[in-house]
Amino acid sequence: MIGAHLKNLAKLAMRNSPTLANPLWALAYPYIIRRDGTYFGSEYSDRASAFEQIFDENRWLSCESRSGRGSTLEYTKPLRKSLAKCLKDLEVRTFLDAPCGDFNWMQHVELPEGTNYIGGDILGRLVEELQQRYGGASRSFRQMDIVEGPLPKVDLWLCRDVLFHLPNQDVITVFHNFANSEIPFLLTTTYNFPKRNEDIRPGGFRFINLQIPPFHLPRPLSRITDFIAPEPPRYLGLWSKDQVRAALNVG
Ligand SMILES: C[S@@+](CC[C@H](N)C(=O)[O-])C[C@H]1O[C@@H](n2cnc3c(N)ncnc32)[C@H](O)[C@@H]1O
Repeated sequence: MIGAHLKNLAKLAMRNSPTLANPLWALAYPYIIRRDGTYFGSEYSDRASAFEQIFDENRWLSCESRSGRGSTLEYTKPLRKSLAKCLKDLEVRTFLDAPCGDFNWMQHVELPEGTNYIGGDILGRLVEELQQRYGGASRSFRQMDIVEGPLPKVDLWLCRDVLFHLPNQDVITVFHNFANSEIPFLLTTTYNFPKRNEDIRPGGFRFINLQIPPFHLPRPLSRITDFIAPEPPRYLGLWSKDQVRAALNVG
């Protein structure tokens, strides 16, 4: 009883002072976790049907967003601010958000004036609905499989919260698609603490560290904190196309 009370107080304190709590939590987390959180997704066969099933049955279990707990307004509050700054700093005029999921939090990001937004997701029905509801002169949604490509020409690609659901080989193919695209920068989710990238089926989950085998990305040019303690610490790393090409050994 007292233990649970203390735990709740600690959570509240962490949420109220993220500037102090987040870096401390990121340092402590690898020593505290007991489970590696991997779910192999053995019940799923192909990408399209796996993510359709997850979406239709709300398998990521958030009552606010079908894209899961990491896509709620509370979780993304600091992220929305940092992302708006990043778009401004990079002078982004055309922006790809793929996967866009249900667009729950992204609709509240302040994009620099005149920015052309493209949201892409593997789920056809979802993007059709988003296009009808939110599409306009400078905002469009299309069905897109980032493993198959091709990717549209934009200034920046945000690829948040999906590579950790894809098999290692698919992640490598995604990087090849980026390397062959006309997009100069990729901003994507990575964790610091895994010492190994487990392989999974599409729709499974493992914490992914893009700087270790089999991906070998170098240190990102910069990174955006994308967690609120006591959630597992993770970041959106910014990589240039040249960095990714070098990691893939393509000339
Ligand atoms: C956890 S949600 C994240 C969505 C969004 N990035 C966010 O931050 O809210 C993962 C999304 O990836 C989509 N997805 C999975 N595999 C994909 C693929 N190969 N190409 C495009 N979208 C994919 C799923 O349909 C789902 O909407």
